[in-house]
Amino acid sequence: MKKIVEVKDVIFSYDNEHDALKGVSFDVEEGSYTVILGHNGSGKSTIAKLIAGLLAIKSGSIAVDGKLMSLENIAEIRKMMGIVFQNPDNQFIASTVREDIAFGLENYEVDPLKMDAIIEKYAGLVNMKEYLDKEPSNLSGGQKQRVAIAGILAMRPRLLIFDEATSMLDPTGKEEIKKIIYDLHTDDTLTILSITHDIEEALKADKIIVLNEGRVYKIGSPKEIFSDAKGLRDIGLDIPFTYKVKEAFADVGIRLQEHNKVEDLVEELWSLSKN
Ligand SMILES: Nc1ncnc2c1ncn2[C@@H]1O[C@H](COP(=O)(O)OP(=O)(O)OP(=O)(O)O)[C@@H](O)[C@H]1O
Ligand SMILES: [Mg+2]
Repeated sequence: MKKIVEVKDVIFSYDNEHDALKGVSFDVEEGSYTVILGHNGSGKSTIAKLIAGLLAIKSGSIAVDGKLMSLENIAEIRKMMGIVFQNPDNQFIASTVREDIAFGLENYEVDPLKMDAIIEKYAGLVNMKEYLDKEPSNLSGGQKQRVAIAGILAMRPRLLIFDEATSMLDPTGKEEIKKIIYDLHTDDTLTILSITHDIEEALKADKIIVLNEGRVYKIGSPKEIFSDAKGLRDIGLDIPFTYKVKEAFADVGIRLQEHNKVEDLVEELWSLSKN
């Protein structure tokens, strides 16, 4: 599969003293839903900012869409990606939702006559059409993130990066945004790179990259990653609920795969509880 992002041996330091990234390498396949997991301070946001060209690497290389990132092509590369950050409040500049999405489109040489139709299309996609003439500051956190996503989608990016885009939201807002992110994934021309602490979200990814203290701890499918509960706990990460259930059963000697029928499982649990 074609690689949309190739990160090779990247070292980065904020202060030229301590390296925040100590030689990180991974690829992101085009059209995939890739998740980056990692404890606080492991380097997740740093790598996102490097891919977006917001910071400059110390050594190593980053290629986006086959182009090695450099000062000359950074503007062009940036045009093909969109980033949604954690705090929805820092992402608005205009006085209405409509103007805000329009501002974002200004750099993209969009025909002014088609602008409104584009704005309405993407606002509709995130269920925010009726809020187009409202002030962004009056929206809830979840609604703000939906508008931020609409604004970015309107620019038709090929790579969408979410850096903990749901972490400030309440459970309802979180679910809304997660559903939008997941639905976007059905479009196989769009690559999603999602940085999250949400292990249940990570369970749906095609590939998970686990970072630990500025290094890649492991790369694999959700199954490969979450089967290593002990390793993950050692680096401060949890495992999803279903894996915990499996683990709990294994602890008492029950292998879930062997139970085709719920009745069998219930029967075995009963007999265990009698001992
Ligand atoms: N602006 C900065 N100046 C100096 N050091 C920084 C800066 N931003 C991050 N760091 C350091 O770089 C390392 C990686 O930080 P980064 O923000 O990438 O982690 P993260 O995995 O995104 O963490 P979190 O889960 O808390 O968002 C940390 O040690 C952090 O203290
Ligand atoms: Mg971060």
